[in-house]
Amino acid sequence: MEQKAKAVICREINQPVVVEEILVEAPRRGEVMIKLAACGVCHSDLSATNGTIPFPPPVVLGHEGAGKIIAVGEVVTDYKVGDHVVSSFVSMCGKCRYCQTGRPQLCDQAGKAATTLPDGTLRTRDLAGNPLNIFSGCGVMAEYATLHIDNVVKVDQQMPLDKAALIGCGVMTGVGAAVNTAKVDPGSIAVVFGCGGVGLNTIQGSAIAGARMIVAVDTNDGKLEMARKFGATHVVNSKNEENVVKTILKLTDGGADYAFECVGLGEIAAQAYGVLRKGGTAVVVGVAGPKDMTSIRTASLTFGEKTLTGSYFGSARPREDFPRLIGLYRAHRLKLDELISHTYTIDQAPQAFADMQAGRNARGVIIFE
Ligand SMILES: NC(=O)c1ccc[n+]([C@@H]2O[C@H](COP(=O)([O-])OP(=O)(O)OC[C@H]3O[C@@H](n4cnc5c(N)ncnc54)[C@H](O)[C@@H]3O)[C@@H](O)[C@H]2O)c1
Ligand SMILES: [Zn+2]
Ligand SMILES: [Zn+2]
Repeated sequence: MEQKAKAVICREINQPVVVEEILVEAPRRGEVMIKLAACGVCHSDLSATNGTIPFPPPVVLGHEGAGKIIAVGEVVTDYKVGDHVVSSFVSMCGKCRYCQTGRPQLCDQAGKAATTLPDGTLRTRDLAGNPLNIFSGCGVMAEYATLHIDNVVKVDQQMPLDKAALIGCGVMTGVGAAVNTAKVDPGSIAVVFGCGGVGLNTIQGSAIAGARMIVAVDTNDGKLEMARKFGATHVVNSKNEENVVKTILKLTDGGADYAFECVGLGEIAAQAYGVLRKGGTAVVVGVAGPKDMTSIRTASLTFGEKTLTGSYFGSARPREDFPRLIGLYRAHRLKLDELISHTYTIDQAPQAFADMQAGRNARGVIIFE
């Protein structure tokens, strides 16, 4: 059964998003149709509208959604109508070398089909009949979406869907960068550059892992105030610093064990690397534009045994990690309610993007009827 659905679309690069009615096809083999309850607005959605993430428009945005299954396609046995699910913007094919070795975040299949379902086809088109691309196998900033089961994770029915949605990107990415990728040690020092939806979660992930000192860095005092609520022990507004690296080296008495780039700029990745002490690890979480380059002092890698690495989707194993995060939320160890700083109707989606750009939100969340 095909569904008409309002959806948030990037029609043209460097133009505001538009809300349009689209058609969402019934699920085929191995697919499910979801009626979305909520979808968070991530900076990566914005990056898809300005070429930083080069997805060809038109694209149905959204990769941080949660909702209920309303139809299942052939051979779907593990999911049924009524199940609650969260989207996963990496598809987990289960067969490639990365899935087989416990790193589904690097699944080969997901890389091949960045703006379609895993098999390269689409279930989305506009009212004129033209196909619409989808953001990373998802396109869940819409009232309905048809996804492959490799892009969905079943969650407990008791978990509120607006909070569950956030796990689909920002929370998993941020907490996972600290816990899965960096494996932050108890008693260590962490520095987090960028305190948006992702960075705030990197801060709380570092706190959960037991870091003793967590320095939050941002250019916006409002974000730094939020950072304290999520576990930052120190804050630095880099706008007020002549040399932010020097300031942090002094503050940390010689440097950080872990530093995270959660902005999406090579220049900040170099700062993250620059604040490390010997043996430290810098993790690039932000997504920089395709032409962005950075450089580091090569010999410092050798003499300081430093590590510079990336983290995609918090090195998630979504089917294992989503339930863990929900468990932490229930145990009052993971803040999700506090992340939702503003909610929007789907018609207000352009405002949600503007508010994110203006730095007004921890996370803005679109709530569907
Ligand atoms: N690795 C992944 O899997 C993954 C997943 C989701 C998002 N991302 C990326 O992570 C980045 C952050 O996403 P978000 O949703 O948290 O964005 P956001 O817009 O909510 O937050 C970005 C923060 O960076 C701050 N900032 C901007 N310029 C800065 C500077 N020069 N120095 C310090 N802080 C600065 C802003 O004030 C803001 O608080 C984006 O690049 C996004 O594409 C990566
Ligand atoms: Zn995201
Ligand atoms: Zn795979």
